[in-house]
Amino acid sequence: MEPLKVKIGAFPSKFDQQPLGQIVPELQMAKDHLLKGDAAGNDFLGWVNLPENINQDELIRLKSDVARLSAKGKLFVVIGIGGSYLGARMVIEALQSEFASMTRSKHPYVVYAGHTLSEDYYSQLLKLLDQEDYSVTVISKSGTTTEPAVAFRIIKAHLEQKYGKTEASQRIIAITDAHKGALHSIAVQEGYPMYVIPDNVGGRFSVLTPVGLLPIAMAGFDIDRLLQGARDMRKVCIDNNTPESNPAMMYAGIRNLLYRNGIKVEMLVSSLPNLRYLAEWWKQLYGESEGKQHKGLLPHSLSITTDLHSMGQYVQDGERLMMETFLRVNKPGTNVPVPTDEQNLDGINYLTGKSLTEINDCATRGTIEAHTTGGVPIMEIEVERIDEYTLGQLIYFFEFACGISGYTLGVNPFDQPGVEAYKKNMFRLLGKPGF
Ligand code: PA5
Repeated sequence: MEPLKVKIGAFPSKFDQQPLGQIVPELQMAKDHLLKGDAAGNDFLGWVNLPENINQDELIRLKSDVARLSAKGKLFVVIGIGGSYLGARMVIEALQSEFASMTRSKHPYVVYAGHTLSEDYYSQLLKLLDQEDYSVTVISKSGTTTEPAVAFRIIKAHLEQKYGKTEASQRIIAITDAHKGALHSIAVQEGYPMYVIPDNVGGRFSVLTPVGLLPIAMAGFDIDRLLQGARDMRKVCIDNNTPESNPAMMYAGIRNLLYRNGIKVEMLVSSLPNLRYLAEWWKQLYGESEGKQHKGLLPHSLSITTDLHSMGQYVQDGERLMMETFLRVNKPGTNVPVPTDEQNLDGINYLTGKSLTEINDCATRGTIEAHTTGGVPIMEIEVERIDEYTLGQLIYFFEFACGISGYTLGVNPFDQPGVEAYKKNMFRLLGKPGF
């Protein structure tokens, strides 16, 4: 395998004196906690061994459900929020064409619901569902989250009206807890095919369970390669005990050192727009895992060069709050050269024959140089290409690094008590009994 690499990029001189060595014992202890399960949150460590423990019978059943549902229509609706949809969306958007559409796709085209309460969104979605044959997965670990519950009630009613109750129940797959929750009860009562989210895997760590695997396979991508990438990265993360040999320790170490030296924001930067949902998934993973006790780097993202024309000024010259982690992809796999133009009225003949990758790479290197000069510490994560295998590597790498980083920060990375605050207020305002 070509392993993903983490490199300390250019550090402004202010940060030169921060030796990584001083934090290594803490990183090793944090890694031990993940492997021994002897620290806070140890009942949510199922993700550590997920790629190894994947149930082969379940995978076969999942692939047969994918084949069955794929024959039922061009559209697949994924209902879920947070960790119950971001992982699938990250992989699907990274791999599908930017211009994928329902009409041109060989596989069902995935659309999302349950992640918003926008009335317009559902009104437009229902119009689409009127016109197209579709099936649905509804994903909720707790089985009680309001946003997907509302979306599922609306879409279930539409589905039953369109196909009748019996056929509708053949077009729905529930992914939820093994025993409890409203979604579990509905699925049992209605006889929906069901997949279980293991008790010891939290939402934001669940992409390598049916939560992510089912929608990704529906969209036509190779979940075996995804799991292989994760499996290989797991070995690297578990077998190696220094930042130099273990990319997860390096990443967790640098971000904690910089945080201790006054950095408040980490921006994940990519020059490939199809990775925008990777950034969204990463924001949830790190934001929900570390943002506790008034601590933690705020996860933010930049898509360059697009955002250099909106956020570039701030990053260059605004308040010195941030570090940047550049996600570099070595081989994007396509080639679009700049054509020549005799008149050269646009003045860009000096670019003739260069590929957009070359130009994009110079823009990225120029940005790194500029931001370093502007006082922003920079780290780089490098992968060979974007495909199922490297996405599997990235998923496991970011998860394992998140566990190490959270423990090093001194928080429980596997709970999210703060998410309840808005819910209580919303329930009170909606008049839910007991609130
Ligand atoms: O990471 C988490 O646990 C959360 O972000 C959940 O994924 C999110 O709140 C959705 O919860 P549920 O899957 O229970 O509907």
